[in-house]
Amino acid sequence: MIIAVDGPAGSGKSTISKLLAKELGLVYLDTGAMYRLFTLKMLKENISFSDSDKINELLENLNINIENDRFYLDEKDVSEEIRKSEVSENVSEVSAIKEVREEMINLQRKFSSSKDVILDGRDIGTVVFPNADIKIFLVADPKERAERRYKEVIGKGGKASFQEIYESIVNRDRLDTVREISPLKKAEDGIEVDTTGKTIEEVKNMILSIYKTKSNIC
Ligand code: CDP
Repeated sequence: MIIAVDGPAGSGKSTISKLLAKELGLVYLDTGAMYRLFTLKMLKENISFSDSDKINELLENLNINIENDRFYLDEKDVSEEIRKSEVSENVSEVSAIKEVREEMINLQRKFSSSKDVILDGRDIGTVVFPNADIKIFLVADPKERAERRYKEVIGKGGKASFQEIYESIVNRDRLDTVREISPLKKAEDGIEVDTTGKTIEEVKNMILSIYKTKSNIC
């Protein structure tokens, strides 16, 4: 069983995917976090985004790990660091690099082999698993997505500006949509779920009912 959950920044992919994973007994993979981990590594090593040789070298020696909802780079827990604005501001540029995508997709397919999985990202239903059993495309009004992110940061005791978060989300969506390789888009057979004005519980139930309908058909 492979469930693909794609959609723009802040559409609720990871929250919903985690809940569905629990409810349906699936293993969850946050593919966005993988691109964030690699972006952090690039920033730490101060590597230019156009230096293919260095990028390939980094990819060959990459040491990333995801365990119990914590994210590790070179054995160090960087779960908070990968969500910081410096990473968010650069991740779309890094994830548009061909070699980076190829390696991440390899890792995602390897991780998912012989497991029942739910993955969230931008290209899961279109490129990583075009034969996924269920493909969900989560969308929501950009202001509401920014509002959710803002509340998340404030809720964790951090500081944030709504306007900055809003602009960063809109900018990231634009870069993710216009890029040449694996752009953010709904798969032809994807099911769009609009989460604007909906609670997490409502969205979860909408997807569960899609799952039940699909399971009865198969
Ligand atoms: O959680 P949020 O929606 O902010 O983003 P994320 O899922 O953590 O993804 C961060 C970035 O990684 C995205 O803006 C994309 O540029 C990139 N990404 C991607 O290119 N392909 C994926 N499958 C997942 C993420």
